[in-house]
Amino acid sequence: MPFRIIRNDITKVKADAIVNAANSSLLGGGGVDGAIHHAAGPQLLEECRTLGGCKTGDAKLTKGYALDCKYIIHTVGPAWHGGDRGEEELLRLCYRNSLALAKENGCESVAFPLISSGIYGYPKDRALDVAVSEFRSFLEENDMDITLVIFDKDSFEVSSEIVGEIRQYISDAYAKKSAALDKRNRDSETALGMYHTAEAAKPLGLFGRKKESSANIMPVEADICCEASADLEDLLKTHDESFSEALLRLIDEKGMTDVETYKKANIDRKLFSKIRSDKNYKPKKQTAVAFAVALELDLGETEELLKKAGFALSDSLKFDLIIRYFIERSNYNIYEINEALFAFDQSLIGS
Ligand code: AR6
Repeated sequence: MPFRIIRNDITKVKADAIVNAANSSLLGGGGVDGAIHHAAGPQLLEECRTLGGCKTGDAKLTKGYALDCKYIIHTVGPAWHGGDRGEEELLRLCYRNSLALAKENGCESVAFPLISSGIYGYPKDRALDVAVSEFRSFLEENDMDITLVIFDKDSFEVSSEIVGEIRQYISDAYAKKSAALDKRNRDSETALGMYHTAEAAKPLGLFGRKKESSANIMPVEADICCEASADLEDLLKTHDESFSEALLRLIDEKGMTDVETYKKANIDRKLFSKIRSDKNYKPKKQTAVAFAVALELDLGETEELLKKAGFALSDSLKFDLIIRYFIERSNYNIYEINEALFAFDQSLIGS
């Protein structure tokens, strides 16, 4: 997955490069810096001593030592002073310079903590927006697996407005569902009562009622027949279409290129080629949904595409409701969708 968010201790993550939120001395400190030095071992400090420090916004590279990575990229985030001392631009530079160093050194994967959002006091929701927007721009032009590692739940703050709205949306859907269940229970009780009544009333005119109802049904059936024959060609065309075939057709119909599609879907190139070349490829639900988002399908079209892979969007699973929430609002920003999914402890979409 080109971009993912996970909850972990970054010193336990495997990646070509791990980014450290250091200070300008590069000689260690608290927070993630302390944890990285502790886990990498004393040789890291020895190498850091040779680097001559690092300016805020810059990044420098060392070996990974005892960590499960080739390199550690040390970057110095800005301390927060209220936002009018160029903090945002400096924070953006941390991500840009770290990603450039990773690329220069041939890294295919890199893991970041949420720089400046701890001891340096950068507001977490803003720090997250900066990180995600920098990852997004970088991934538009480059191929890399970028992991944002969140240490504790409190370090992760998606705009409380959107989280609040989604929470409300989910609870409304649950309420609707339980009201529908109550109604179904009531109806089946009533139906049971009616059955006895109907049985008793049989000799008095059941035949008449039957005739009346079949007269009502006939024209509707006729309409359906006509519609079916008009759409028969389309139906036959799409009936046996596999997920992969449907996907390629939709990409053409939307006038998108393959690269645009898999990048927008947060799918890596290798997986996309696999899907492209295997007509019968069976994707995971998260992959199928990611393509629906990339293609900006509406709810009906999304359901159609998911059906090809044997999935549906229910109105009771949290994951499905969050996807519905975004699609209903025509918000197809996969980064925002994934932030929301992460905030609700759901699997992210993409490969
Ligand atoms: N893995 C992943 N993330 C972590 C870990 C970990 N093991 N530990 C903390 N975090 P901070 P800063 C998160 O304070 O704000 C040091 O003393 C943490 O929850 O480590 O850039 C340096 O030497 C927070 O969200 O870095 C500097 O003096 C994020 O990492 C100063 O702190 C960054 O928190 C840098 O402050």
